[in-house]
Amino acid sequence: MTDLTVRVHDIAETGVPGEAGCVRVFDLRPDSDALPAFEAGAHIDVVARDGLVRQYSLMNAPGETHRYVVAVALDAQSRGGSKYLHDWVEAGDALMISPPRCHFHLIEDAPFSVLIAGGIGVTPLWAMAQRLIALGRPFAFHFGARSEATAPLLDLMRPQLDVAGVPFYTVFESDGGARLDLGRIFAEAPEGTHFYACGPAGMIDAYIAAGAGCPAGKVHYERFSGAEAPALDGGFEVELARTGGRYAVEAGKTILETLKDHGINVPHSCAEGICGACECGVLEGTPDHRDSVLTDAEKAAGRTMMVCCSGAKSARLVLDL
Ligand code: FES
Repeated sequence: MTDLTVRVHDIAETGVPGEAGCVRVFDLRPDSDALPAFEAGAHIDVVARDGLVRQYSLMNAPGETHRYVVAVALDAQSRGGSKYLHDWVEAGDALMISPPRCHFHLIEDAPFSVLIAGGIGVTPLWAMAQRLIALGRPFAFHFGARSEATAPLLDLMRPQLDVAGVPFYTVFESDGGARLDLGRIFAEAPEGTHFYACGPAGMIDAYIAAGAGCPAGKVHYERFSGAEAPALDGGFEVELARTGGRYAVEAGKTILETLKDHGINVPHSCAEGICGACECGVLEGTPDHRDSVLTDAEKAAGRTMMVCCSGAKSARLVLDL
């Protein structure tokens, strides 16, 4: 769903233009009315050329409604989104975006928070850091990147964290291949700490493993891409509670694709289980969750699911559609 139009007010660029790792920071502003408010950790969909939709975390201070700021790293593996925003979009251009959505919630009254960022994954964590500073809540920030010279947002964040007295730890691979010591970060955090991480898949997998001993609900993360393959085994039926329609999901198809084939359009965006746009209520049956949006507790409860990637463990699912 992309029903907001914003204009590119300004673009700041770091790194070598056109090369992988180059980061463009877009300051997006409305032509007239204020933008919908957003919470730390939220993201927006941005429509690139040919209708391609990509998700970008908002990195400006939550509470600002005169602008949204997103940072886009040029990705050599890009399917078009980051390349389009690097090569084609200039100041003054209009962009179609969605209202903000948030599945990466900050627990604002936690006794202590630890933010852990890898590369361009720093963007939602920087929004969280600004929120925690505004609230006067204690936290520490760990940031890993390839090199100090190309670390996204470093020049913006360091002085503000310094003024606020926030412990800020950096690790750069160019300094000898060191990585964030996740085991130590978890071990040394005070009791009751909530942890937040965003970064490359390998870092998030290591983070989840390092935090396995933490109490439930304290280890939060957001991925760039789907962690699991979509459920494509088929062999079950989906019933839509509001219309009574029943549809067989065949091997090789997701629920979303099956419904689309029958002319039923479920709102969706990333189609890989990371944005939450296709979330549907589950009234009967057992989902086979494959997304990176729901928490383990939400998956176990089975009351909601992402139909772009998740399937069924039962012969029938009844969805609240
Ligand atoms: S469309 Fe993004 S999670 Fe399903």
